[in-house]
Amino acid sequence: MSKKVLVVGGGGRCHAITDSLSRSAKVSKIYCAPGNAGIGAQAECVPIQVSDIPALLEFAKANDIDMTVVGPEASLAAGIVDAFREAGLAIFGPTKAAARIESSKEYAKDLMARHNIPTAAYRTFSDFDEALAYVKAGPIPVVIKYDGLAAGKGVVVALTLKEAEDALRDMLLDEAFGKGRVVIEEFLDGPEFSFMCLVNGNRLYPLDIARDHKRAYDHDAGPNTGGMGAYSPVPFVTPEIRRTALETILRPVAEAMVKEGVPFTGVLYGGLILHKGTPKVIEFNARFGDPETEVVLPRLKSDFYDLIEAAVEGREFETEWKDESVLGVVMAAKGYPGKYEKGYPVRGLDEIKTPVYHMGTALRDGKTLTVGGRVLMVLGEGDTLAKARKAAYDAVGKVDCSGLFNRSDIGAKEA
Ligand code: AMP
Ligand code: GLY
Repeated sequence: MSKKVLVVGGGGRCHAITDSLSRSAKVSKIYCAPGNAGIGAQAECVPIQVSDIPALLEFAKANDIDMTVVGPEASLAAGIVDAFREAGLAIFGPTKAAARIESSKEYAKDLMARHNIPTAAYRTFSDFDEALAYVKAGPIPVVIKYDGLAAGKGVVVALTLKEAEDALRDMLLDEAFGKGRVVIEEFLDGPEFSFMCLVNGNRLYPLDIARDHKRAYDHDAGPNTGGMGAYSPVPFVTPEIRRTALETILRPVAEAMVKEGVPFTGVLYGGLILHKGTPKVIEFNARFGDPETEVVLPRLKSDFYDLIEAAVEGREFETEWKDESVLGVVMAAKGYPGKYEKGYPVRGLDEIKTPVYHMGTALRDGKTLTVGGRVLMVLGEGDTLAKARKAAYDAVGKVDCSGLFNRSDIGAKEA
């Protein structure tokens, strides 16, 4: 049973996916499109962009790919799963229709309302004046979200009316992310965590919990980013809270999608918040989280290919987890999530003994260069979160690159 796998994507999440697949006894060959400098050490990178569905399909057919695993939302929104299934190829991810749970916040919110899934109260607007009037009449803080894909950047938690007005102006009048609507939400207060489940219709294969750090700077200051660091497991998420999240949120949502004729297959990612002791939904994603995947997959004891195959086929599968903690620190280009420069050489990686997942690097003339906003995810492992944290920061200290910055407080609250 030697399987050929195509991983679609080129960030840290795909490096983690590739790394886990490379440990599978079943997998003989991994291709990654387009991949990056780190992934290139474990897989054959092919220069096809993640939204070029016809080229990906042709590649998969020509190379007898047994399974395709999709990383980025852009591929899903472009309909990669629909196209591969139509061609009779096995692929792990949701259809374009099911991926709307991530790509349309309005669809996700309406689905939750129809099925009584706990989440923040909300309303949708396309008119600036009406939106502003609604905000003025309600409590502050308030949360303003662009209704569409904005790479994790279309959310403003407005602490003042002025911030709320500026956000509405950006999104509705200046169309900073394109023409669209906004969802205005009740502000929920509490610690957040990420709960990813592999899903096939009504069947769920829960992964262990992770915690992301979304703000750019220490003490949760600065703008929202795609995520600046993560750890798993998450001590404050007790088995009881996890069970509640599974039974009141993830499972009912998967079942609702089956009932409504849009069955979900792939990773259903719940971005949850513990509001007054009860888990509630902040957002859903239709894919592996980034950087959560980088800290969850290294803790998986089971064969990752087996798990994916079981999920694609809808078979029962018991996942096993290591007890150890894994913590990862993102090293990002100075300026991220705003404007940043590329092309800095990255040195010192050879001296690091813990795993380093590449998020935005490329190999040019034998040198590893920065090419993205988030560049590296440096991991530490340990039998406690504190030890994992120390190992990760020791490794961060060995990275030699003048163009990068990182948060110094990943996991600090719980370690
Ligand atoms: P999202 O892209 O929807 O996950 O939002 C990004 C971040 O904004 C979340 O991780 C939260 O930190 C924050 N956020 C979003 N919605 C809310 C809410 N209703 N209440 C409080 N914080 C929120
Ligand atoms: N880390 C959050 C995400 O993947 O969207």
